[in-house]
Amino acid sequence: MASRTSFLFLAFVWLALATTALSLTPNFYDKICPQDLPAIRKVVQAAVHKERRMGASLLRLHFHDCFVQGCDGSLLLDSTSSFETEKNARGNLNSVRGFEVVDQIKAEVDRVCGRPVVSCADILAVAARDSVVALGGPTWKVLLGRRDSTTANRALADTVLPSAAMDLPALIENFKNQGLNERDLVALSGGHTIGLSQCAIFRNRIYNATNIDPAFAKERRATCPPAGGNTNLAPFDPTPARFDTAYFQSLLKQRGLLTSDQALFNGGSTDKLVKTYSSNPKAFWDDFAKSMIKMGNIKPLTGKQGQIRVNCRKAN
Ligand code: HEM
Ligand SMILES: *[C@@H]1O[C@H](CO)[C@@H](O)[C@H](O)[C@H]1NC(C)=O
Repeated sequence: MASRTSFLFLAFVWLALATTALSLTPNFYDKICPQDLPAIRKVVQAAVHKERRMGASLLRLHFHDCFVQGCDGSLLLDSTSSFETEKNARGNLNSVRGFEVVDQIKAEVDRVCGRPVVSCADILAVAARDSVVALGGPTWKVLLGRRDSTTANRALADTVLPSAAMDLPALIENFKNQGLNERDLVALSGGHTIGLSQCAIFRNRIYNATNIDPAFAKERRATCPPAGGNTNLAPFDPTPARFDTAYFQSLLKQRGLLTSDQALFNGGSTDKLVKTYSSNPKAFWDDFAKSMIKMGNIKPLTGKQGQIRVNCRKAN
């Protein structure tokens, strides 16, 4: 009887240890390299100071990393003979940016730690948080301990990254496939309170949509002609360098830039939440932080899985 009890107890302890070893923790580098987080913050702050948009670009990198085979740094890998880079995928090509800053962060972190112990996947998660803070948004404790993949998957990136043309049901389904719910969808779409988009992406909406404020459409058409000017930039909201609630306020006025933005306030189930966030920065901030942690937990490699890359652009 006693041995049966102790067996069950040991089995329980083993299971507890095995599962904690596999989950992320904010203290992961406390012993290995306590200087890592200040080093990342320093480089992000300098990059955002030099160009405010870089904060937006770094936030987006973490999102596009996590949606494709989990938060494993796969987005950062360049092409090899055995796989094509995710940087060539539909939602990434000529669009995602900030890879040079990630390289700078990696170099600085490895320098202060004395060796490569911080994963590229964790660097993206921390840089995303530090970017949001640098642009006046909420902070949160980033969970750490992700390891880096040795492969990337361009075809998967093509299918799982959401497109600007999606309607609400498609967006809900897309996020559901990642374990994210409608609340996560609306809160995380609030990431569009910072950053810019290219004419080629929002052209169809500003010329053809009916759920758009005509004055706003006219304003955007001025720098986005029916043909040409594909890379001309426009902000998602009037304050693209501030993490505020202006994105949601714009949606209330049918001034969403992308079809997928306005879809969140178009008579559907997410209207109420958009309204709430538009007038309640605290509600938006709290939910954004929660959903960022949830997104950061998508299928991480942990323990002995994957590796800590020496160069974020290629497997060791
Ligand atoms: C809900 C589905 C989403 C769609 C369809 C979408 C689509 C897009 C598109 C088309 C762009 C502009 C790309 C370009 O013009 O080159 C963009 C930019 C951006 N996205 Fe999203 N996005 C979504 C969700 C998110 C999420 C969840 C985040 C982060 C939490 C995010 C953060 C950003 C940021 C910060 C930018 C601006 C980047 C920059 O200025 O460099 N997006 N997104
Ligand atoms: C407007 O929609 C039509 C029909 O779908 C399309 O052919 C046209 O290219 C669109 N206009 C712009 C400027 O995108």
